[in-house]
Amino acid sequence: MGKFERVLALPPERIPEHVAIILDGNGRWAERSHRLRAQGHHAGADNVETITYACMDMGIRYLTVYAFSTENWKRSKDEVSYLMLLLKQYLLKYKKTAIAKKIRVRVIGDLSGLSEDLRELVLDVEEATKDLTAFNLTFAINYGGRDELVRAVRGLVHDGVSEEEITENKISGSLDTAELPDPDLLIRTGGELRISNFLLWQCAYSEFYFTDILWPDFGEPDLENAILDYAGRERRFGGRKK
Ligand code: IPE
Ligand code: IPE
Ligand code: MG
Repeated sequence: MGKFERVLALPPERIPEHVAIILDGNGRWAERSHRLRAQGHHAGADNVETITYACMDMGIRYLTVYAFSTENWKRSKDEVSYLMLLLKQYLLKYKKTAIAKKIRVRVIGDLSGLSEDLRELVLDVEEATKDLTAFNLTFAINYGGRDELVRAVRGLVHDGVSEEEITENKISGSLDTAELPDPDLLIRTGGELRISNFLLWQCAYSEFYFTDILWPDFGEPDLENAILDYAGRERRFGGRKK
């Protein structure tokens, strides 16, 4: 059977345009194999690349990955610094690949909370890939859905937006995700059944897919299974078929 044959046989409209992933379980993956949590994060970062290319090959247009939440600062100093180092290394290494594969890279989240060098790197990669259109890869870093809404509302108040001008579109357009369609499919690996402050506004009508597989183990066949599951669902958006 050819690669992704089962997914590629689907009618194109059954393939999600935007997949968002809460990549959870790096720590448990490491513990399970008697490695350091840092090694789990390293393996998790490598897997982002694998899953990105798989999404591209399946005809998905947008992938958004939750890499660091506004709550993840509560972890040990060592783990936080390692995660920040990993993000830096990853973006640095990834810039060339993204350009070669024509992937537009974006970062959502509160950049003002990041170190200056990471912030500069983010802006640099975003700028270097801003005209690329083969695929859209977005990293959520220092991201929280509530924090994003607070920043958006502050921006609107700052701009003197009037009561009548407040609409759903206005709010959507003020979020970090203004340029992205809402996720069609939200995947969470690692077995927890919660959203952990990810894309709260944007997930209003997303389909959810939870799996016990730990993120570093979540491979191409697992992504295929998630897409096939999604393809079998009926999305009603509150309406009914006649
Ligand atoms: C997800 O893995 C990665 C981040 C939150 C940065 P975890 O580190 O949360 O892994 P578990 O949940 O402890 O296994
Ligand atoms: C969610 O995972 C955040 C990311 C994947 C970046 P967590 O491991 O931080 O979530 P909780 O604490 O289990 O809700
Ligand atoms: Mg976790």
